[in-house]
Parts: sequence; C-alpha cells; structure tokens
Amino acid sequence: MKNKIKALNAKIAEAQKGGGDNRIDAQHKKGKLTARERLHFLLDEGSFEEIGMLVTHRSTNFELDKQKYLGDGVVTGYGNINNRLVYVFAQDFTVMGGSLAEAHAEKICKVMDLAMKNGAPIIGLNDSGGARIQEGVVSLGGYADIFYKNTLASGVIPQLSAIMGPCAGGAVYSPALTDFIMMVENTSYMFVTGPNVVKTVTHEEVSSEELGGASTHSSKSGVAHFSCANELTLIEDLKTLLSYVPQNCEEEAPAIPYTLSDERREVLNNIIPENPNQPYDIKTVIEGIVDINSFFEVHKNYAENIVCGFARMGGKSIGVVANQPAFLAGVLNIEASTKGARFVRFCDCFNIPLLVLEDVPGFLPGTDQEWNGIITHGAKLLYAFAEATVPRITVITRKAYGGAYDVMNSKHIGADMNYAWPSAEIAVMGAKGAAEIIFKKEIQEADDQEAKWKEKEQEYANLFANPYNAAARGYVDEVIEPAQTRQKLMKAFTMLQNKVATLPKKKHGNIPL
Ligand code: HXC
Repeated sequence: MKNKIKALNAKIAEAQKGGGDNRIDAQHKKGKLTARERLHFLLDEGSFEEIGMLVTHRSTNFELDKQKYLGDGVVTGYGNINNRLVYVFAQDFTVMGGSLAEAHAEKICKVMDLAMKNGAPIIGLNDSGGARIQEGVVSLGGYADIFYKNTLASGVIPQLSAIMGPCAGGAVYSPALTDFIMMVENTSYMFVTGPNVVKTVTHEEVSSEELGGASTHSSKSGVAHFSCANELTLIEDLKTLLSYVPQNCEEEAPAIPYTLSDERREVLNNIIPENPNQPYDIKTVIEGIVDINSFFEVHKNYAENIVCGFARMGGKSIGVVANQPAFLAGVLNIEASTKGARFVRFCDCFNIPLLVLEDVPGFLPGTDQEWNGIITHGAKLLYAFAEATVPRITVITRKAYGGAYDVMNSKHIGADMNYAWPSAEIAVMGAKGAAEIIFKKEIQEADDQEAKWKEKEQEYANLFANPYNAAARGYVDEVIEPAQTRQKLMKAFTMLQNKVATLPKKKHGNIPL
C-alpha cells in the first residue's frame, strides 16, 4: 500500500505542476497567477475539493499522445466563498495555452451539471487560447456543449465569468452567455478574431488591448461589467458581487443583520439644485438612501447616463437602476436601455427587489439613435421592467418626461409603489418644447414672440412641472420629503417582501432583441 500511496502522491504533484516550472514562471512574468493560485485566493481556505485531477485527453493527432498533462489544462471542483458553496473551473494557460478540447470541456460540463443539480453558482476563471486546434471539431463540440449548458443554467443559478488572460474565438461566447463578465486590466483580452485576422480582413492595425482589452469592453462595447486593476482586485470584486446574490432562483440573497434606528437622511433634502436644468450626481442620492457603503456599482464605465448596481436596505439586497443627470442629462439612449434591461432581468431572475430613481428628460433624439434602433433597444428596458415580478419601487426625484416616464418602472407597467419628491416634474415633455408646439400660433402672432413664448412656457410649467397631477390620479402614491425616502422605502420593501405576482402561462416571452 505504501508504494501505491507514493505513486498517487507523485501523480498529484505532477497534476499540480501543470505545464511545468518554466511555464509557471512565464505566467508570473506576465503579471498573471496560475489557475491553482487563483483558486487559492478565491475560495475559503481549505475548502477546495478538486474533481477530475487525473483526466487526460485522448487525442493522437499531431503526436498529441506524447503531450499529455494530468487535468488537461483546466482545474475543476467545488469549494466555499464566505461559507457558501460554489462550483469552479480555472483554465490553466501553462498547459497548451489553456486550450479547450474534448476532455477539458467534459470537466467543465461536469461541474456545471453539479452546480445546476445542487443549486449553487458556477464561476469560470478563463485563460485560454480557445478551441484546441489539434483536436479539430471535437474542440468545437466541447465549446457547444458548454454553451448549451450555459443557456440552460441561465436564470437558474448565477454564472460568473472572470477573464484572466486571452479569451479568443469561441471562448468568448461562454462568458457572453453568463450573467457577469469581469476582466483584468492589461492582461486579459476578449475577441472573436484577433488583431492579425483583423489586419488581414479589414486592413485595420489594432493592438490586442485596444481591440479587446478590459478598458475597451468595460467602456465601449459593454461586454464586460467590471474592469479590475489586477487579478486580486478582480477576485475581491467577485466575492463582493456574490454577497448580493442568492445561490439559485429559488432562494433569496443572504441578508446582513440590521438594527433599525433613525432612518431620516437630511442630506437628501439638499441635493436637487434650484435650477431644474442644473445637473447633480445621482450616486449621492443612492448613497444617501441605501445602507452605508453598501452600493456596489455594475457596468460603471459604460452608458454612464444610467447607473446600475447592488445595494442593501436594512441589510437586504436590492438592485438599483437610476438615471444619471450628471451624464448626458440622464437621457435614455441605446446603450443605457440595454444596460438597464440586462440588470433588471438579472435581479428579477434571482429575486432581488428593484429600486428605480428617476430623473430622465426622455429618449435621446437624432438619426444616430433612430437608425441604430433606439425603438427596439428602448423597448428592451420597457419589456424588462414590465415583465419583472420582484418588488419594484420608483422614486421620481426630478424629471419624468415622455415615454421615459412610462418606461422607468411606472405604476402603469407594474411598479408596486411610486414616490415623488416635491421637485418632480411629470409631463409629456419639457415646458419649452411643449409651449412651442401647443402655443405655436399665439407665439407667432404676438408682437414680442420671445416674451410670449416665455409666458406660455411658464403657464405650462405651472400646470405640469410638479408631481401633483400624477398624485391626484394615484400614479404617484405619495409625494415625500427627500429626507424621508429611506424610511419610506424600508417600510415599503418590508411590506412587499411576500409579494406574489405571476405572468400569463407561456413558453417564453419574445423580448425585442
Ligand atoms: C492549441 C494552443 C492554442 C490553441 C495556444 N496554444 N492557443 N494550442 N490550440 N488554440 C499553445 C501554443 O501553441 C503554445 O504552446 C502555448 O499554447 C502558449 O501559446 P503562445 O502563443 O506561446 O502564448 P502567447 O504568446 O501568450 O499567445 C497566446 C494566444 C495565442 C494569444 C492565445 O497562442 C493565440 O493566438 N492562440 C490561438 C488563438 C486562436 O485563434 N484560437 C482558436 C480560436 S477558434 P507551446 O507548446 O508552444 O508553448 C475557436 C473556435 C471555437 O475558438 C468556436 C466555438 C463556437
């Protein structure tokens, strides 16, 4: 037996070495950790249990049988993060560039199946040159098997993707099917085709970083939700993100104990500027409302005219969607609509109540928006809110104009409670534009057209630039002093905590994609 145990230990040591010392050094020189080091920092100490350590590939193409590595380039298993079960796979770039083929894919599928059956999140640490070229179609099949499972798992368990190295070709589509993508600055890339292919096909010269680095995907394309300075900050962000979400769609997110005290927040009375056209930072409103230091922003650098993120109210997880008057006046455009819609749907999948803070002048006009489909993309946000069955509360802080009033979680599309601050302006459009249209004749016939316009603008503003018409109809449940907002919301979310809402029986809806 002793010899047998010795042989086993030798195998374990071999597996743990991955592609060997030189390659591990090369990985470190690039500023990257190895797959096992990453898991060490990610999981609670001593909690990792590896599955499939001794798996090898079965290919004989191109003399691959002489290049077998235990584990086949991916470390898989389960462990805990803050005492909560998670399933993990970490691709090992030191083994054939972390490339994915039959056995590698089977290992990932195995932990995905376990995650689904046992209702716990699956976390992928991606660092791979994509489909293993030597194994041909078998590699493509392996990817497709994963894509299929990603799709089936969507909305059942949280799926998180960390991009910690190259992620090329089909390798980008599994992360794209998951709920959140986190990238490491300067050492991770995602692209369907790399710079060389781009140069051949389109004659564009572009670096990997510019084409598909963390900055590009977190600010330009919106593919990545988080851009992290290094691997350790990514791991910390990933843990923080998980703390706001439940294990699966049947559960609620974990709550932190909270003792009720004076929940008035005087600071909220002094945020909205006297001049309705002056911007302010909606994040100061969010921070003034939610539990101290609990706001965790998602998609921070993308479509900054809408702010999305998780927070806590009285220790319980909520999702916040807020127009940002400090960026493009908080207007809704294509990017903001898709960003908001995706976040709303994540929260709804995983029983996270929604708080909407509304200060929106409307949808962004112009040919660029119309030709690129603002109608379809704006409808995504509308659809996402209308379909969400979690508790939903809106606070109108200032402008709620036009279609954007309807879209931003109005009562008409199923919001449970709708509050307005006294500064709210709820109307079809702003007073200036409205006066120009409905008093056009009177303005044209006036001796002093400018003065007439101003007079009519004021008349319209007096009638509509307030929350009281909406309150008179019950579209707004209560007009509140800003300082009361936190108290009101805490009571309302508690009142709504057993909400049951069902959608009509159907196979699935047809969100305007
Ligand atoms: C097999 C691969 C590989 C791959 C890298 N390697 N990618 N082996 N299949 N796809 C191997 C290399 O041969 C090398 O082995 C080792 O990994 C490290 O690679 P390097 O090139 O030395 O590393 P680096 O300079 O850091 O460049 C990394 C890289 C580059 C950017 C990922 O290797 C690369 O461009 N690889 C190919 C990417 C790609 O086109 N993949 C296929 C995509 S198509 P040795 O033994 O020499 O150290 C695809 C289709 C899926 O994925 C479709 C699903 C829908």
